[in-house]
Amino acid sequence: MSVIDATKTLPTVRRLERVSAAEIRGLAELLIDCVAGGASVSFMHPLSAEKAAAFWTRVAEEVAAGGRALFVAEDEQGIVGTVQLVLDLPENQPHRADLAKMLVHRRARRQGLGAALMRAAEATARECGKTLLVLDAVTDGDAARLYERLGWVRVGDIPNYALMPDGRPCGTTYFYRQLS
Ligand SMILES: CC(C)(COP(=O)(O)OP(=O)(O)OC[C@H]1O[C@@H](n2cnc3c(N)ncnc32)[C@H](O)[C@@H]1OP(=O)(O)O)[C@@H](O)C(=O)NCCC(=O)NCCS
Repeated sequence: MSVIDATKTLPTVRRLERVSAAEIRGLAELLIDCVAGGASVSFMHPLSAEKAAAFWTRVAEEVAAGGRALFVAEDEQGIVGTVQLVLDLPENQPHRADLAKMLVHRRARRQGLGAALMRAAEATARECGKTLLVLDAVTDGDAARLYERLGWVRVGDIPNYALMPDGRPCGTTYFYRQLS
């Protein structure tokens, strides 16, 4: 059972409307930490700084174009958590968004930041008129447990969907959340 430390202050989660070069570097460092820690989030280990920055540069372009909402949380060392809402979906799904790339640095885990990032993303999704969110996560991993705890509905598992950063196969689980 988790012991809640009420004395710890969580970093504030904020939405970035524009992503600076320094923020791209911070997001790249966060992604590299998560991959090095064994998270299956599209990349293999070791993830280079160049490849990570290229990924966040593409995200930044979509943020600037309004197709994605990007959230970050910072501590005294830099960006420590992030999550995205993919808002730009096909025209027959205007009520829906995908939740993507929920990342919390290993130095800040198990303090409630993942849950705080999710609350911020869901609040913005509601403001944007979205009533349905969808995501996928490694089957039975830390993230899947977080989503179930936060009320997301588990749809089903696909075995051998992707690779862990070290090359081992892993399954994925799809979740949805009705916001209405
Ligand atoms: C999944 C992930 C985002 C969770 O982030 P997090 O900030 O640790 O999430 P939370 O702190 O909200 O919850 C995690 C756990 O800490 C516990 N916790 C929360 N606040 C706490 C506190 N103050 N004291 C002690 N425990 C606490 C929660 O109850 C939860 O426990 P559980 O895992 O036993 O269910 C993080 O582990 C991560 O970035 N993983 C790597 C990347 C990844 O896999 N992303 C998902 C892509 S789909």
